[in-house]
Amino acid sequence: MLGNLYDRALDGERCWVRNDDGEVRKLPVRRWLGGRHADARFDRAVLELCAGPTIDLGCGPGRLVAELNRRGIPALGVDQSATAIGLARGIGAPALCRDVFEPLPGAGRWATVLLADGNIGLGGDPLRVLRRAADLLGRRGRCVAEFDATAMGIRNRWVRLESSRAIGPWFRWASVGIDCAAVLAAEASLKLTEIHPIGDRVIASLTA
Ligand SMILES: C[S@@+](CC[C@H](N)C(=O)[O-])C[C@H]1O[C@@H](n2cnc3c(N)ncnc32)[C@H](O)[C@@H]1O
Repeated sequence: MLGNLYDRALDGERCWVRNDDGEVRKLPVRRWLGGRHADARFDRAVLELCAGPTIDLGCGPGRLVAELNRRGIPALGVDQSATAIGLARGIGAPALCRDVFEPLPGAGRWATVLLADGNIGLGGDPLRVLRRAADLLGRRGRCVAEFDATAMGIRNRWVRLESSRAIGPWFRWASVGIDCAAVLAAEASLKLTEIHPIGDRVIASLTA
């Protein structure tokens, strides 16, 4: 769980992520909020891969869900942050405030499950996340999942959000290298069918 510093970051407070090894990274909130700060090339490529009803797990402020609906593709976002869900609904994205591991509508029938912005690492357990994606997909469905472009295995860490005013609780997060995609997919009863490099980022198509 990201804790309420994440909500404050979405509201504009400058936050960063600290790993338990001391490494600090900027939280790419402005990229998540979309608009002129979005990674437009990446977003376009992801949107092109979403065919048929799409569920975005950990949708954040919902820019991808909103754009899919604008294009006539039914899409639903799911996120446990009430602030993110409020922002998503505000830009026209249908979105549910829920843990992605709780019961969700349309389980077993979605054409696309989206795991963007490193969400395959949710909770530090990529296999659990991919198994959840597999549960949600219909028979010919496809999970569109971003991996880390540099081959690095699975790096499971404790991380926390910080700002100049507050420090959030530690939580688990995994970075998952594209080199692991085939094995992880197979363990989740999915099949790696395509790898799509997009600039310095990479998306894998995993079919049910
Ligand atoms: C790295 S951010 C990704 C943001 C999002 N994909 C976007 O484009 O804005 C991770 C998101 O996953 C959500 N999240 C983390 N664990 C979750 C869970 N178990 N269930 C639902 N949402 C979760 C967080 O609230 C956060 O919005």
